Amino acid sequence: MHFIPENIDDYVVKHSEDEPELLQQLNRETYQKILQPRMLSGHYQGRVLSMISKIVHPKNILEIGTYTGYSALCLAEGLQKNGELHTIDLNEELFDFQRKYFNKSEYANQIFQHLGDALDIIPKLDKTFDLVFIDADKENYANYFNAIVDKLNTGGIILSDNVLWSGKVLETQFKKEDTSTPALIKYNALLKNDKRVETVVLPIRDGLTISRKV
Ligand SMILES: C[S@@+](CC[C@H](N)C(=O)[O-])C[C@H]1O[C@@H](n2cnc3c(N)ncnc32)[C@H](O)[C@@H]1O
Repeated sequence: MHFIPENIDDYVVKHSEDEPELLQQLNRETYQKILQPRMLSGHYQGRVLSMISKIVHPKNILEIGTYTGYSALCLAEGLQKNGELHTIDLNEELFDFQRKYFNKSEYANQIFQHLGDALDIIPKLDKTFDLVFIDADKENYANYFNAIVDKLNTGGIILSDNVLWSGKVLETQFKKEDTSTPALIKYNALLKNDKRVETVVLPIRDGLTISRKV
């Protein structure tokens, strides 16, 4: 869904940074070989993630929801020289695909993959983080926030993806099988009201929230 007119959207992309060659390859191979390729962040959002990461210049990054590794590589662009990016996904079929692209990048030794349910893995990570990207199952966004907020350094940033859910967060009645929309509505309210963070929602792509730990 486009929240701004398509011609403006095209203009915005055209006047933003180009997609690096390695990410173009990853994008293409994801669309050729992997199920649900629309889950990948893609060119414009990837450049936004890269820019935010470069501004934050984090020592440690945590990503929840690796998929094929596109957003991990974008976020890694802002890492400090000896920084680390830890990324979690429960789909073991994606593990070798992710590694192949991480190894082709200049961040091969800085990216650490964790295979399993993020709610099991996060408590075992003995680190604090400057930047966290939440982009896994929507039903657990609030649980991810609660699991990582104490591991986030003061001034640290949490980015949450898909918070507008194609505009469905405006709805008040949901199909029985739709558990994502009510979860995101609750999550957006949680971020707005939680005094540990200050939050702005950016209406780019499917909605990207920036929350800063105070
Ligand atoms: C939207 S995709 C991530 C896209 C990726 N961040 C990008 O922008 O290229 C969501 C990913 O979360 C993973 N996932 C879903 N539930 C999870 C859980 N409980 N723990 C860890 N990963 C999970 C899925 O396997 C999927 O690969």
